Amino acid sequence: MTATWWRRSVGYEVYIRSFADGDGDGVGDLRGIIGRLDELAWLGIDLVWISPCMPSPMHDHGYDVSDYTGIDPAFGTLADLDELVAQARRRGIRILMDLVPNHTSSEHPWFRAALADPSGPYRDYYLWRDPRPDGGPPNNWRSHFGGPAWTLDEASGQYHLHLFLPQQPDLNWRNPRVHEEFRRILAFWLDRGVAGFRIDVAHSLHKHPDLPDLPPRPEDVPSRSGSDFDELHHVFDLDQADNVLAHRAWRQVTEPAGALLLGETYLLSAELLHRYHDPDEGLNASFWFPPMHLDWSPAAVRDLLVDALRMPPGTLAWITGSHDGPRAASRFGGGDLGRRRALGLTAMLWALDGIPFVYQGEELGLLDPALRLEDMQDPLARRHPEDAARRSRDLARTPMPWSPDPGMGFTAPGVEPWLPFGGRTAADTWAAQRRDERSWLHAWRRLIAAWRALPDDLPAACWVDEGDAALLAFRRGQVLAALNAGEDDVGLPLPGPGVVAFHRDPACEGRRPEGALVLAPGDALWVRLDDEPGQV
Ligand code: GLC
Repeated sequence: MTATWWRRSVGYEVYIRSFADGDGDGVGDLRGIIGRLDELAWLGIDLVWISPCMPSPMHDHGYDVSDYTGIDPAFGTLADLDELVAQARRRGIRILMDLVPNHTSSEHPWFRAALADPSGPYRDYYLWRDPRPDGGPPNNWRSHFGGPAWTLDEASGQYHLHLFLPQQPDLNWRNPRVHEEFRRILAFWLDRGVAGFRIDVAHSLHKHPDLPDLPPRPEDVPSRSGSDFDELHHVFDLDQADNVLAHRAWRQVTEPAGALLLGETYLLSAELLHRYHDPDEGLNASFWFPPMHLDWSPAAVRDLLVDALRMPPGTLAWITGSHDGPRAASRFGGGDLGRRRALGLTAMLWALDGIPFVYQGEELGLLDPALRLEDMQDPLARRHPEDAARRSRDLARTPMPWSPDPGMGFTAPGVEPWLPFGGRTAADTWAAQRRDERSWLHAWRRLIAAWRALPDDLPAACWVDEGDAALLAFRRGQVLAALNAGEDDVGLPLPGPGVVAFHRDPACEGRRPEGALVLAPGDALWVRLDDEPGQV
């Protein structure tokens, strides 16, 4: 029988470089995480996904792996990982590793062997093609980070494919030996007690076998970022039907261990995600990314929630932010309004069936930091300096402000962190917010507690039209979830008596409101009505 412990778990993404620095070198590490497990347990976290910690030359900060069964010395040792798993387990927390199967580092021994011996067995681990007759790249594909998706190996005269940096060559998932390698890698980490894997770019492992040119993006498909990558229609490089073959093979390894396969399946529509979530095979669940591309307006938030309501129950992990984009609270308008909206949208998503996830620092209401271009480290920002202030992933990657002390509790006093703190104040810190029951930290903690108290067997969500464009609401049986997506206060008429199960303001929670409730812009609430639907 399929284990489903994750259906009752609250997840938390740790971006390891920026979470906590245990050895005082300015870079976060495994011992740093161990030192903060008590805080995560206090917050109510059950599942921690750690961004890649395997050996890497760090061209993409760990997403360029040069050894899949080791730990990078910057982050610690295998013994530290074992201790993290054990210490986390003592607190009821499971650890999820980040598996990067689409590409390796160009310094991985497989790629080195592929370069050194074009007729040897490792050549076919990657995707090589001859140049076009004019000597140019084999097709018109672009890299996610900008520029061509091909780099020429002058020694052999062939190009290798890389959907990300040239130092991240794509693996050939049509080669059975690649499948064998990854089965071994999964088993290695499961044996060490990890609870599963977050699968990096799970939707793009297989490419069309002929690698045809991509057509231009149709006018009705919006450009996500305005980059040259988005000018093409990704019908042959992403979302190929065969992707599920790799997922199925991994599921055979994870299922007996009761482990979770959670995909970074970056497809923005409900329809496209369906094929990845067969209950009996393939991924157990995927992150749902539309909130990372939301341009806030009541109509856009309504469309997003209506789409979320259509997703099959339990197959999505809810996020509003990650290490791959600016902070949600800034994207949603900035200041306290943006913070309320980030928490409010999160409350709406969490009221649906799925896995709640918090990205480190969201629980503190962190906004984008003030970073200068010269401080930025993200390869995406470096390749697009004109756009860095808006798109740089560094905006979500500055170190956690744990306390107002020198080093902000992230690193030792006097040590320069790998990215600047970017103007964090004492009020932003975990220590200050923990002492203040009205802080963002306490509000997020209460949301987690309220989520845990939701009944297990809530029926499917049913949209409630309140007739006010700014007021968005749905019911799941006795639970009513409502969000004010507009810019003015709105009154929420309750269909019957009930108790407020979650509200940002602790004074409202647990109360039985009389008459209409007033919601401030960006605020959401959950009310547990006394009566079952139909009896109201
Ligand atoms: C994923 C990661 C991102 C990385 C990319 C390439 O999208 O989240 O940080 O750059 O894959 O591995």
